[in-house]
Amino acid sequence: MKLSVTGLTKTYGPHVALNELALEIPDARVLCLIGPSGGGKSTLLRVLGGLETPDNGSISLLGTPLPHTAAGLLAHRRRNGFLFQQFNLFPHLSALRNLTLPLEEVHDKTPDEARAIAREALDRFGLLAHADKLPSQLSGGQQQRVGIARAIASEPQVLFLDEPTSALDPEMTAEVLELIQELAEEGQNIILSTHEMGFARAVADQVAFLAEGRIVESGPPATLFGEPSSALCQRFLSRVMRY
Ligand SMILES: Nc1ncnc2c1ncn2[C@@H]1O[C@H](COP(=O)(O)OP(=O)(O)O)[C@@H](O)[C@H]1O
Ligand SMILES: [Mg+2]
Repeated sequence: MKLSVTGLTKTYGPHVALNELALEIPDARVLCLIGPSGGGKSTLLRVLGGLETPDNGSISLLGTPLPHTAAGLLAHRRRNGFLFQQFNLFPHLSALRNLTLPLEEVHDKTPDEARAIAREALDRFGLLAHADKLPSQLSGGQQQRVGIARAIASEPQVLFLDEPTSALDPEMTAEVLELIQELAEEGQNIILSTHEMGFARAVADQVAFLAEGRIVESGPPATLFGEPSSALCQRFLSRVMRY
């Protein structure tokens, strides 16, 4: 997955969330975004996924410029998969229905096709026994796995995950991270933000450190974690790795 971003700016009123951000990723299966809270990770993910339009700048993902028109952005969103905090499971629908609904409504599958795809996706993550349960009847880790199953059911070009384990206890975190690693090994392109530095180091091909709306540095994990070049990144890593 090739990604090229230049001059990317996104403001919310007086808040500058992304500040002429530039990022060049020559080739990565898994790109991890790390950095302090408020640095712009979620905003960058939403803009890359076509869920928000930037004020300025250009993005090329997988060799294709990100579209600017509403129709182009809609097509871009349909090609990709998301697990973001604001796209939680529908609480009143079963796990299975959470998968079939977008397949029918967004991806034009017939109910039978949607059901077959959804059951296969749930089965693959060991969730078939929970197909008829509501999200509230599942553990946090199971809910996130259903969310990921939903996101990959449409065979996305890129899977975007925004802190997929931030609300989970260590055991559930492990089960979700294992699933993400499995997807990566199968060739799924993934861009995720995470506070799990061990995971980023082990699974990412490229890591980008964001602070104050910019990429401060990026590179392979061995370099970024082993010998970070910026004082900001050194300070961040020594703080989060201390305990
Ligand atoms: N919808 C929004 N309205 C106003 N400010 C926002 C909005 N989304 C993000 N911001 C601001 O943009 C900056 C970057 O936020 P965010 O992308 O959420 O960072 P991160 O995910 O790294 O914590 C923060 O200062 C945040 O307060
Ligand atoms: Mg965030």
